[in-house]
Amino acid sequence: MTRTAEIIGVGSYLPEGRITNADLERMVDTSDEWIVTRTGIRERPIADEGQATSDLAIRAGQAALAVAGVAPEDVDLLIMATSTPDMVFPSTGCLTQAGLGLSCPAFDVNAACTGFIYALQTATSAIESGRADTVLLIGADTLTRFVDFTDRTTCILFGDGAGAVVLRAAESGGVRGIALGADGKRGSMLYVPAGGSAMPASAETVANREHYIRMNGNEVFKFAVRVIPETTNAALAQSGVDVGDLAWLIPHQANQRILDTIAERLGVSHERVFSNVANTANTSAASIPLALDDLYTSGRLAAGDLLALVGFGAGLTWGAAVVEWTKTTPGKEA
Ligand code: COA
Repeated sequence: MTRTAEIIGVGSYLPEGRITNADLERMVDTSDEWIVTRTGIRERPIADEGQATSDLAIRAGQAALAVAGVAPEDVDLLIMATSTPDMVFPSTGCLTQAGLGLSCPAFDVNAACTGFIYALQTATSAIESGRADTVLLIGADTLTRFVDFTDRTTCILFGDGAGAVVLRAAESGGVRGIALGADGKRGSMLYVPAGGSAMPASAETVANREHYIRMNGNEVFKFAVRVIPETTNAALAQSGVDVGDLAWLIPHQANQRILDTIAERLGVSHERVFSNVANTANTSAASIPLALDDLYTSGRLAAGDLLALVGFGAGLTWGAAVVEWTKTTPGKEA
């Protein structure tokens, strides 16, 4: 009998605070017009001072478990996709496991903004192999903690948030195919120089602002618009799905211009390309499950819909998954 991994619950959490373009105009030499034209972003959710990544993850995890109707003792595995952990160790997965009252194994996956897709492959493999029946997968990041709010080229892009899905063994539907890629040779296009073992945090690294994100925006843009169509097509081919059969293309939310370009290159109409980047900005590993939750709670997903989820980010990493949605729309249950 075939074992597949279907999504039976989805949830998300965005902190209440917002950094608007008007706020950024007061911090750096920029304008609302420049930011909206070049990125489509209008505001970014920002975690409260007392909130760490695990705090956002716990809220999203609780919501997804409630939608799935799964009790904490029935979760076999917790996988956390994050590149902004609460601390070096324990893992944010373990901190979240405690916060959710789970007793299953828990660990982190770091593939930056592609983290959710990488972790989806790990979760799917665990279910397909029979090593787990029920997996909680959370993507959570607090990138604003690693943003230099004196650098106008990066501080406009990032926000904080968490999204989660519950995956369960099924006989059909769910994750149909996943394609992943990495090119470590180009890691310096998007990185945080200090705070790890290569350059431990010191008074000097802090003075040099080396514990913040450094990025070659132009190169990352070109990389994204090339790799997203390629990896999406690879996942579609693996799944035996035609691009024209997709109900939704759900890309990592980084920049509206990237979304518009990939829609054209893939031949997907703009109405079928999910976008909430204007109000969430780039929430890294959280952006794809946040999008799924947005579509689900607003009744825009129907059982049988074919979805392509696609991510890209630091590493460099990229990946796409084709998922057959099996959950009934809220309010339309039999
Ligand atoms: N406000 C005003 N001007 C700005 C600015 C800002 N916030 N940021 C940069 N500029 C200036 C630059 O200094 C440059 O000025 P110059 O021509 O005098 O040198 C000019 O605007 C154009 O800069 P450029 O970097 O070519 O702009 P761009 O159109 O490539 O847009 C990004 C910059 C960062 C928005 C864009 O490259 C991008 O989104 N890249 C992808 C980044 C990303 O998604 N990263 C995360 C991946 S997971």
